[in-house]
Amino acid sequence: WVLMATGRSPTNIAVIKYWGKRDEALILPVNDSISVTLDPDHLSATTTVAVSPSFPSDRMWLNGKEISLSGGRFQSCLREIRKRACEFEDEKKGIKIKKEDWENLHVHIASYNNFPTAAGLASSAAGFACLVFTLGKVMNVKEDYGELSSIARQGSGSACRSLYGGFVKWCMGKKDDGSDSLAVQLADETHWNDLVIIIAVVSSKQKETSSTSGMRDTVETSPLLQYRAQTVVPSRVLKMEEAIKNRDFDSFAKLTCADSNQFHAVCLDTSPPIFYMNDTSHRIISLVEKWNHSQGTPQVAYTFDAGPNAVLIAPNRKTAALLLQKLLYYFPPQDKNLSSYLVGDKSIL
Ligand code: DP6
Repeated sequence: WVLMATGRSPTNIAVIKYWGKRDEALILPVNDSISVTLDPDHLSATTTVAVSPSFPSDRMWLNGKEISLSGGRFQSCLREIRKRACEFEDEKKGIKIKKEDWENLHVHIASYNNFPTAAGLASSAAGFACLVFTLGKVMNVKEDYGELSSIARQGSGSACRSLYGGFVKWCMGKKDDGSDSLAVQLADETHWNDLVIIIAVVSSKQKETSSTSGMRDTVETSPLLQYRAQTVVPSRVLKMEEAIKNRDFDSFAKLTCADSNQFHAVCLDTSPPIFYMNDTSHRIISLVEKWNHSQGTPQVAYTFDAGPNAVLIAPNRKTAALLLQKLLYYFPPQDKNLSSYLVGDKSIL
């Protein structure tokens, strides 16, 4: 017999960034973070897990190509899910699996990203969230999403926030074993459904410094990181929660832009400095800042992760259309500064 389950998880974009670990093995962060989960139709991972007594080993295929499962992060997720697996019975198919049987049953996993191949956008958040969710489904795990998020966290920190739609907070937690470092939903996908997210793809190349090694260098060398994690982020998180609750775009946009800029300042404060943004990224920031300043209130928010691509958040479709017009004017397609645009609508998360 073969038992199968399929799941789909979208990626998420942090508006208060996670950068820096206090425990590398368990992936415990130095500060809380807040994100918005994207619409799964645009950027998501779809994973099918099959279990069968005839599988001699665990195997995985990513976008059709077999990949190695020897990495510690994958093994942590699989181990944590196996620990929580429950008895399963399907009389019609003649399947009966006792709790202790799961230890000896192997999995075959096939995962696909629907990210446009040229987008060069991070996929580990959606990938690990989906992997943990689907493994949990096939192994009859009864734990809630909070518990699953703390397992996904051990695959990739930002993955814990992709277990929920809408606005999500990753609470850093205090315990050494990481059991209180998990994601909670601040507001569901219907709460602020006018927001429109546009990703301007500046470069589809793989980033030069991975998040994992970048944040390790930052923790070791940046004096600014401590100030950010201990003094700035705690109060910023409270303000952001308030802005989300009240759908206050003005505060939301100011906090989002400020946090992106401080994250990149911390990267610059790292030795050797890490440059994730490029000239085109900087020009996009100027364009938005000038526009926002000329109107007296923020029209659009920008945020950049560990790469040069801009994530732009507009309060509604009308402003999003204006933004696209401006981007096309300042970055004409023939100049090839921007390779493509992805338009996501938070309302259909
Ligand atoms: C800049 O979650 O990719 O996107 O935990 O080492 O896998 P690891 O790092 P990862 O880092 C994401 C960093 C970020 C900010 C964020 O998503 O909060």
